[in-house]
Amino acid sequence: MRTPKLLLVLALLASGAQAQNREVNIICSAQAAWCSMIAVTFEKSQGIKVNMTAKGSGEAIAQLAAEKANPKTDIWFGGTGDPHLQAAEQNLSLEYKSPTLPKLHDWAQKQAAQAGFKTVGIYSGPLGFGYNTELLAKKKLPVPKTWGDLLKPEYKGEIQSANPASSGTAYTMIATLVQLMGEEKAFEYLKGLHKNIGTYTRSGTGPIKAVARGETAVSISFVHDGPGEKAQGFPIETITPSDGTGAEIGSMSIVRGSRNLEAAKKFYEWALTPAAQELAAATLQFQLPSHKEAKVDPRVPDFRKIKMINYDYAKYGQTAERRRLIQRWEKEVNSLPR
Ligand code: F6P
Repeated sequence: MRTPKLLLVLALLASGAQAQNREVNIICSAQAAWCSMIAVTFEKSQGIKVNMTAKGSGEAIAQLAAEKANPKTDIWFGGTGDPHLQAAEQNLSLEYKSPTLPKLHDWAQKQAAQAGFKTVGIYSGPLGFGYNTELLAKKKLPVPKTWGDLLKPEYKGEIQSANPASSGTAYTMIATLVQLMGEEKAFEYLKGLHKNIGTYTRSGTGPIKAVARGETAVSISFVHDGPGEKAQGFPIETITPSDGTGAEIGSMSIVRGSRNLEAAKKFYEWALTPAAQELAAATLQFQLPSHKEAKVDPRVPDFRKIKMINYDYAKYGQTAERRRLIQRWEKEVNSLPR
């Protein structure tokens, strides 16, 4: 009698596991159009239901930390790499060595290796400025060309940046400035910049959307987010500072304790294919894809033409460093009057 009962239990367990792997729960920190496109395409092509929640990088890691004991998420797709490195450090993500790794650009492989393979680079994009060509002409303002230009009094109230507490873009800005100028000078700079900031937005793409719609003249943004706005007919251009800039390594991680691990790995592998990565440009997202064979749309910023700093992703992705810099920004910069 014992054996059939045991078999029944095993069969039930197996069917439970199968049912579990018929869906995958994803937090997506890229823009909504891209998130929806990957959800629909993966679901249709692989027959696995996708439950997708959109969350900025900062909010995503906060949710994963809150769910640590009882994870409801299987995959975290997109968003700047630093909170993914932080998730790896806090053991919120699972080690997984994809067989596709050798086919990815070095920067994407390096991102994986330095996180003990708990994350992987899926795209990259440089930081710079967005500007509204019509608004600048109307206000007789020049195009800012360097970080220093943004401190000029004529830009007072005309610049938007995101808030580093909620946005990976804004944290990339702080880390870039610290690496470019040294920490003390960078904070002096940020205090000066604060005087010219009209609004700090929650999301990293908020400022470039505001520029596109003529709500502000200049934004500090990832420049790959410019061409998508332009394609919608807005008078927007982007520029990278001639004195040097940093870049993000947008990343993807499997959540530790995922209840749909098989489905999560299927999604992960699919998301690393050239075809899946090319869906970004199809939804007007112009980050550089991490798979070497993915087609690169001509609107993707050309890194070879940009003065890039040698960004220390490992250092600035550390929880303690990130927290310290953001707290310092809150205390010394954001608390100042404008
Ligand atoms: O989706 C556009 C984008 O600029 C990504 O390239 C980037 O990873 C993400 O936004 C960052 O968003 P946030 O600054 O809100 O964390």
